Order: sequence, then structure tokens, then C-alpha cells
Amino acid sequence: MYALIPAAGSGTRLGAAEPKQYLPLAGEPMLVHSVRALLGCAELRSVTVVVRPGDTRAGQCLRADARLRIVDCGGATRAASVRAGLQRLLDAGARPRDWVLVHDAARCCVSVGAVRRLIEACEHDAVGGLLALPVADTLKRQRGDSRRVGATLSREGLWQAQTPQMFRIGLLLEGLQRSDALALTDESSVIESQGLQPLLVEGEPDNFKVTLPGDLRLAEALLLRRRAQPGRGGKP
Ligand code: CTP
Ligand code: MG
Repeated sequence: MYALIPAAGSGTRLGAAEPKQYLPLAGEPMLVHSVRALLGCAELRSVTVVVRPGDTRAGQCLRADARLRIVDCGGATRAASVRAGLQRLLDAGARPRDWVLVHDAARCCVSVGAVRRLIEACEHDAVGGLLALPVADTLKRQRGDSRRVGATLSREGLWQAQTPQMFRIGLLLEGLQRSDALALTDESSVIESQGLQPLLVEGEPDNFKVTLPGDLRLAEALLLRRRAQPGRGGKP
């Protein structure tokens, strides 16, 4: 069982001077927190971080670890980065039937406990699955491009997808090699496009994706709280 962390994005929506995965949170770059959570799962044989070609920052900020690899084969989209990273895993000896947990570098508050829950729920499943949260808020669809409500949608049966997402390396790579897959924004969509139904495993609100500037403060507060109370947030 392997982990792959796509960290080759540019953080456009956050709008900082550098890619968001390198912004400091609680004294360490965001990527360091995400990598630490996955290295905390002994079930994972290795954790591979995918960065952009020529990006040396991950190597500078991550402490050397026998289970950590950094590969600079990131692509123009998240799916392209994941595809290139999976190919590197196979080149390094992983087998197509092995599981991979793909996790966003930008979900830096994920807990070891949530990752373990995903593994336990999926390791004997035929397809695999993802962490996700049932939608809690009432949903509105805007009318056209106005800021007026056009409709209220039922949240019945709706979930917000999180990561990690856990699938077989070979099946995922096969799906990602189809030309229309490179625009997909998560692994589950790739597996769904192959006619399969991934398992929904309940995640946790802390595991949100740092996307907009306001998310930084919340992530930092959670990381600091966890450091002060190591028993919280599922850390062993
Ligand atoms: N990612 C990647 N390669 C890309 C784009 C994204 O590896 N070409 C990674 C990001 O680094 C991030 C994860 O995929 O860890 C989730 O993507 P997102 O939150 O969209 O990050 P960015 O693409 O960097 O942000 P934005 O969309 O605002 O530009
Ligand atoms: Mg993006």
C-alpha cells in the first residue's frame, strides 16, 4: 500500500506570492504537515510527493525519511500530476494490484485516524473508496450568472469528496490514460468513469482543502491546537 501526494499546483485561488503548499502554517510549510500525517500510517510502504519539474523546495523543507520520495514530474492539471506519479510508483517496483492513497498536499489537517478509517474500510473492498462528508448546509443554485437564487436543491444523499482516495494503482492509471480524464479533479471520478462505484467513508470537517485566503487561519488554528493537545485529531 502506497501514498501519493500531488503538490505541483500553483494555488491560484489563494493568490499568494508562492504556491500554497509552501506557505508557513504553525511554523512549517503546509506540505510538511500533510506528509507527516501520511508517514504516521505504518501501513504505507512509502509516501511519494509529486512536485513541478525543477522544484527543489520540497526537498529543502521535508526531513529525509526512508519512506519518503520526491518526484518532479508534476503536470498541468492535478490529474496529470497524479498520472505521472503513479507511473513513477510502478517504475520503482509497485504492482498494478497494489493500493495507492492519493492525498492533496492542500489538505494539511488530515488526521492519522481518518486515513486509517479509510484503509480499514477499503482494503477488502473490490473497488476502493474515498473520505467524504455528508453535506450539512442547505444548497442553492444561482439563476444564470445573477447573484439571485434560482432553486433550492435537496442535500439528500449528497457528500463532499475529500482525500485520501484509495484505489488500485493499475486501474487508476488505466483510467487516467484516457484523454478526457485529465480534466477530472479527483480519483473517484476516474474510477466512476470506468463504470465502478467507489465506497464513501465518513471523513472529518478538519480535513478541508486550503483553497481561499481565509482557509489559512483556520488550518493554522487546528494545527496549533493539535500540537498543544496531541491526543486530539486522531494522531497516535
Ligand atoms: N496539484 C498538482 N498539480 C497540478 C494542480 C494541482 O499536483 N497541476 C495539486 C495541488 O498542489 C494540491 C492538489 O493538487 O495539493 C489539489 O489542488 P488545488 O487545491 O486545486 O490546488 P492548486 O491547483 O494549487 O490551487 P488552484 O486551483 O487555486 O490554483
Ligand atoms: Mg487546482
